[in-house]
Amino acid sequence: MQLVLNRPLDMHVHLRQEEMLQNVTPFTAQQFAGAVCMPNTLPPVDSVERYDAYVAKIKAAAAPYEFDPYVPLFFHEGLTREELAPARERLFGVKLYPAGVTTNSEAGVAEMSKIEPVLDVLQDLDLPLLVHGETNGYSHDREREFMSVYDHFARTFPKLRITMEHITTVEAAEFLEKHDNVFATATLHHLLYTMDDMLGGPFNPFLFCKPIIKSPKDREAIQSLVIQGHPKLMFGSDSAPHTEVMKRTEGAAGCFTSPVLLPGLAQFFEDHDILDQLQSFVSDRALEIYGVNPPERSVVLERKEWTVPPRYGSVVPVNAGETMRWAVVDPEVESA
Ligand code: DOR
Ligand code: ZN
Repeated sequence: MQLVLNRPLDMHVHLRQEEMLQNVTPFTAQQFAGAVCMPNTLPPVDSVERYDAYVAKIKAAAAPYEFDPYVPLFFHEGLTREELAPARERLFGVKLYPAGVTTNSEAGVAEMSKIEPVLDVLQDLDLPLLVHGETNGYSHDREREFMSVYDHFARTFPKLRITMEHITTVEAAEFLEKHDNVFATATLHHLLYTMDDMLGGPFNPFLFCKPIIKSPKDREAIQSLVIQGHPKLMFGSDSAPHTEVMKRTEGAAGCFTSPVLLPGLAQFFEDHDILDQLQSFVSDRALEIYGVNPPERSVVLERKEWTVPPRYGSVVPVNAGETMRWAVVDPEVESA
């Protein structure tokens, strides 16, 4: 049995830089025709010049796959109309990180009340705002506490498209109904797991990420959006590789899911008897919401078991050692 996906997209992934970029990009480029590649590199992708350089590097790392990287600029108060307007046609959007809430976000926004002039420019240029919506509060409540910020932005800038990235809570799921200009992405790991999978038994550092995996009730809210086929919810994996050493010794936050994404999604959709909706979740809605035009590629999945390796180089994937029911059929590998 095969499943064909047309132009699948991962609307939130971390491809990193240098050696890690070379190692992880093929997993994304194999399975997706395009992806939103996050700008929280060191230094961040915070100018048009750095944007052009990063897009070129990703494309080179993705070859021979035809793959479109959509890189949102790292939000900072110094972004100006003069810099953004001439590049508008090739830019994708801007990604806002509150300062210090996650990996490489130190250069993010410390004071939300100061950024409205930049939001005004984004609204004018019709550049979408992607947001890591968490406060610096208690881990489990950070996303809930951020809802008032989303609300303020959505009301003040009604024409600005705002995406709540990697939503994890009942409150975020409900918030999608509140404003026409608010959208969201959801990850595979927040769809599948709860806090207990990470620390209910022996601690599994490979499920530690920001926002933290939450309660069964929260997971159910995200699952129910996916199952009902919510038109404002897109797939965004938030696959965020760190070396095994960083995960085990430094407590680095991020789940490396790239190698298992389409197989894991097919499994979830099959389990809920909604395989026919997978195309919409991994592509159609993002095409509509963002108006992107990725390469005309189909990706084929086959119902065939395979075992996820314990590690890929220095990185341990989510589901390491587990058996997956669906596999990606890769024409590049088949013809090699
Ligand atoms: O767990 C996470 N890891 N969440 C993020 O928002 C960033 C990411 C990373 O870059 O490692
Ligand atoms: Zn992320």
